[in-house]
Amino acid sequence: MKGKVVLVTGANGGLGTYVTQAFLDAGTTVVGTSRKIQQHDFNNSNFTAMPAEISTREGAKVLVNQVMARFGELDVLAHTVGGFAGGQSVADTDDATFQRMFDLNLNCVFHILRAAVPLLRKTGTGRIIAIGSRAALDPAPGVGAYSASKAAMVSLIKTVAFENKDAGLTANVILPGTMDTPANRKSMPDADFSKWVRPNSVASLMVWLASDAGKDVNGSVIPVYGSDV
Ligand SMILES: NC(=O)c1ccc[n+]([C@@H]2O[C@H](COP(=O)([O-])OP(=O)(O)OC[C@H]3O[C@@H](n4cnc5c(N)ncnc54)[C@H](OP(=O)(O)O)[C@@H]3O)[C@@H](O)[C@H]2O)c1
Repeated sequence: MKGKVVLVTGANGGLGTYVTQAFLDAGTTVVGTSRKIQQHDFNNSNFTAMPAEISTREGAKVLVNQVMARFGELDVLAHTVGGFAGGQSVADTDDATFQRMFDLNLNCVFHILRAAVPLLRKTGTGRIIAIGSRAALDPAPGVGAYSASKAAMVSLIKTVAFENKDAGLTANVILPGTMDTPANRKSMPDADFSKWVRPNSVASLMVWLASDAGKDVNGSVIPVYGSDV
């Protein structure tokens, strides 16, 4: 995949760190973004940090313009930005939590898609891989805002797949179950970590979907639940 320019959003996150490293290992040029990303987060000459706030249209547009100014093309969007809130029933969910879930899990992907899709179309082999959540399909009590925002995101990605297949672009969404990230270990110290999904499994799948081998997989919603099926 040498020569491909990959934009990884949430590149310094629990999952995004693995995704960034996996694309670097595949020989691609990686632009890693998040609000606080720094150049020294990855020690690799193919890595470029571009800090951005992508929950606004302007933030996403400026970022993608910077990628184009620096590299002249964009081949892959690997979108991992997202976040969780839980513990409130739908009846008890406050406005701020509901808004935060939709900003993080839906608006960020909407804004980055609007900025990136026209450029990805130009390559003739563009790839979009986004991270949803098992909760998008399997809601549970107390996670209404999170589940609904992820379900909406799945719908958006499938729509993008339909709308852009004429340009050789594929768009797929992966739904991980609970992953073995440092934040999850900290918040659930008594859990059996071996049962959790390895972030590297998700990262490898993203690289495969972005490769030529993944060309025929389009509009797919892919569960990665580990042993907890
Ligand atoms: N962890 C799990 O068990 C699990 C399970 C299923 C699905 N998921 C999904 O997997 C994805 C990654 O999860 P994670 O646990 O790795 O999350 P995480 O560690 O919280 O990472 C989130 C990333 O997004 C960035 N970010 C947040 N808001 C942003 C914004 N407005 N603009 C730009 N960047 C922003 C953060 O960096 P900055 O703070 O520097 O901006 C960080 O890099 C999420 O979509 C999550 O919903 C996670």
